[in-house]
Amino acid sequence: MADTLQTETLAPDAAGIERAAALLAQGALVSFPTETVYGLGGDATQGRAVAGIFAAKDRPAFNPLIVHVADAGMARRFGEWSDTADRLAAAFWPGPLTLVLPLRAGHRLSPLVSAGQDSVALRAPDHPVAQALLRALDRPVAAPSANRSGRISPTRAAHVAAGLGGRIDAILDGGPCPVGVESTILGLTGAPTLLRPGGLPAEALEAALGHALPRAAANAAITAPGQLASHYAPRAGVRLNADAAEPGETLLGFGRMEADRNLSPTGDLTEAAANLFAMLHRLDAEGARGIAVAPIPETGLGRAINDRLRRAAAPRDP
Ligand code: TXA
Ligand code: MG
Repeated sequence: MADTLQTETLAPDAAGIERAAALLAQGALVSFPTETVYGLGGDATQGRAVAGIFAAKDRPAFNPLIVHVADAGMARRFGEWSDTADRLAAAFWPGPLTLVLPLRAGHRLSPLVSAGQDSVALRAPDHPVAQALLRALDRPVAAPSANRSGRISPTRAAHVAAGLGGRIDAILDGGPCPVGVESTILGLTGAPTLLRPGGLPAEALEAALGHALPRAAANAAITAPGQLASHYAPRAGVRLNADAAEPGETLLGFGRMEADRNLSPTGDLTEAAANLFAMLHRLDAEGARGIAVAPIPETGLGRAINDRLRRAAAPRDP
C-alpha cells in the first residue's frame, strides 16, 4: 500500500474528538489513545473501513480485531453475554481487559472483524479520549494496536506517525498511554482461558473468578491467532535474561543495576510496563544493533512484559 494520505493530527479536545468521530463515521481510519496502547480505529460495521485497517497495518486477514465499545451495554449488542462476562465487566470495565465471547445473532459487525471465527473480542477502554470518541460516534470501533504488523506497539502519537503516517487519515494525540502494554485477553467461549497476558494482571482475574486460570502452554494451538511467535520486534536483535551487555549490545535494565537504559530503577513492574515499548522504540530510533534485556519477574504485569519480550526475541522471517 502506498503512503499517500495526508494524515491529520487532532488535539484531544471537543473539536478534535468531533472531527475524529466524523471521520470514523465516513469510514476513515483514525488512531486514538487508550490506556494500554494507541489503537488504529475504523467503524466495525463498515467492511471498507475494516479492510482498510488490515491494509494500513499489512496485517494478515486471518488475524481478528478487537471491537471497542463504551460500556457493557454496548458490548451486549455484539457478544453473547453471560454471568461471567457480567461479573468481569462490572469489576474491570472500563479497563485493560478484552473478553472473547460467542458472536451474537444479528450483530451487524463486518465479518472481516472476526476473520471468519464465530466469536468476537470486546473491550471498553479506560481512557477519557477513547471514551469520549466512542460515545460521540455511538458505534463499535474495530482497533488493533496502531503499528505495522509485527512491529513494536505505539504508546505515543509520534510512534503512530512514524509507523503509519501517510497510511491513515488522522491521529488523535492524547499523550503517552499510562499502562503501556496491551489488554489482557480472556476467552469466554468455553471455560475461561487466558489468551494473552496484558495490562490487567492474571492474578486479579483469578481473584474475581474465584479459581486459577489454565495457562495456555507456550506452544499450544493458537487460539488468539495474533499470538504468533515473532511480534513486537524492534529492528535490533533481542536477547533475554541478560545480566550484562555483550560487545555491541545495549543493556535494558530492570531494578538496581548498571544499564544503558532502565525499565524501572526501583523494580516497579507498573513503571516498567509503561516504559517498555517507548524504550524499545527509542533504541530502534538510535540504531541499536542488539538489545540485551535484564530478567523481569514473572508475576503481575511481569507476565505481559515477558510475553512481549519473548516475542520480540523470537526468530523472525528473513
Ligand atoms: O490493549 C489492546 O488490546 C489494544 C488497544 C488498541 O485496545 N489492542 C490490541 O489489538 O492489542 P491487537 O489487534 O493488536 O491484538 C488483538 C488480539 C490479537 O492477538 C487477536 O488475534 C486477538 O486479539 N483476537 C481478536 N479477536 C479474537 C477472537 N475472536 N478470538 C480470539 N482472539 C482474538
Ligand atoms: Mg498488536
